[in-house]
Amino acid sequence: MDKPAFTPRVFSGIKPSGGLTLGNYLGAIKRFVGMQGGEFETIYCVVDMHAITVWQSPEDLRHATREVAAGYLAAGIDPDKSILFNQSRVSAHAELGWLFNCVARVGWMNRMTQFKDKAGKNAENVSLGLYAYPSLMAADILLYHATHVPVGEDQKQHVELTRDIANKFNHDYKVDFFPETVPVIEGPAMRVMNLRDGTKKMSKSGESDMERINMTDDADTISKKFKKSRTDPDVLPETMDGLSERPEARNLVNIYAALADTTGEAVLSEFGGEGWGKFKPALADLAVDKLAPISTEMKRLMADPAEIDRIMAKGAEKANEIAQPILAKTFDIMGFVR
Ligand code: TRP
Repeated sequence: MDKPAFTPRVFSGIKPSGGLTLGNYLGAIKRFVGMQGGEFETIYCVVDMHAITVWQSPEDLRHATREVAAGYLAAGIDPDKSILFNQSRVSAHAELGWLFNCVARVGWMNRMTQFKDKAGKNAENVSLGLYAYPSLMAADILLYHATHVPVGEDQKQHVELTRDIANKFNHDYKVDFFPETVPVIEGPAMRVMNLRDGTKKMSKSGESDMERINMTDDADTISKKFKKSRTDPDVLPETMDGLSERPEARNLVNIYAALADTTGEAVLSEFGGEGWGKFKPALADLAVDKLAPISTEMKRLMADPAEIDRIMAKGAEKANEIAQPILAKTFDIMGFVR
């Protein structure tokens, strides 16, 4: 049987659990903007239902949902070119998520490394939602028959699980209905590290604000954080191999490369042999140049939350138009009487 041709379609999402960081921007949003307006239909989501897998106060959830939407918009996601919405407005996500809970196997979930890391010793006491989360993520993606998902390395396993769910569904019901989604993982800074400890991921919840760049930081703060970031006593090497044992230095070079749309090698061909006194101010200036306009625009957008809400509501209508027929077909395939 011929495989159905699926529309080239991108889906990706960011969780509104705390503010946006440079990691979200370089690892996700900047790449999302790059995929917009080309060969793909692009759908970008604020995955609010994923955020509540760990406790969020209602005020925090509301604020963070709008802030993530503002970040998307300020960085260049255009609601006329992409579908931008928050997940909870399209109830089909939750419905397909439940159906997939009945397709995915407990053994598959037990292998999810992110769950093991997040739950840690506390596994008996985390929410059931945190455990089932990858099955909802599969629903997010397959609800739109998305063919490509730009994500960071840490989400690769979840996209593989999405493929496993699609394949098992297709196999069990003898259909060729869900596509095999491909993760798109690329770029020098897909994993942006902590500015104080280059072995840890830059996170929105780390204790010191100096270890991360928030997308709402103003120019002075961005500049100060890079200038005070942790480094080592050596000069920069000529090639990336020379950074393999220097996590802080490697991180700063990767950030520079991602901001400048170039490679680490190209950055080192310019700065190899130079010390931090030269590199850090150059990085700080580049970062201010690229990020300060985004933070200014985010502030402007956040001053009018009703406008952000209108944009997300319109996006949700468009998302729903794609999602509803796919959900309806899934119900029919499974034998629900409707
Ligand atoms: N799990 C992703 C993260 O933590 C967020 C996410 C939820 C997502 N649903 C998605 C990403 C669908 C891509 C596609 O970063």
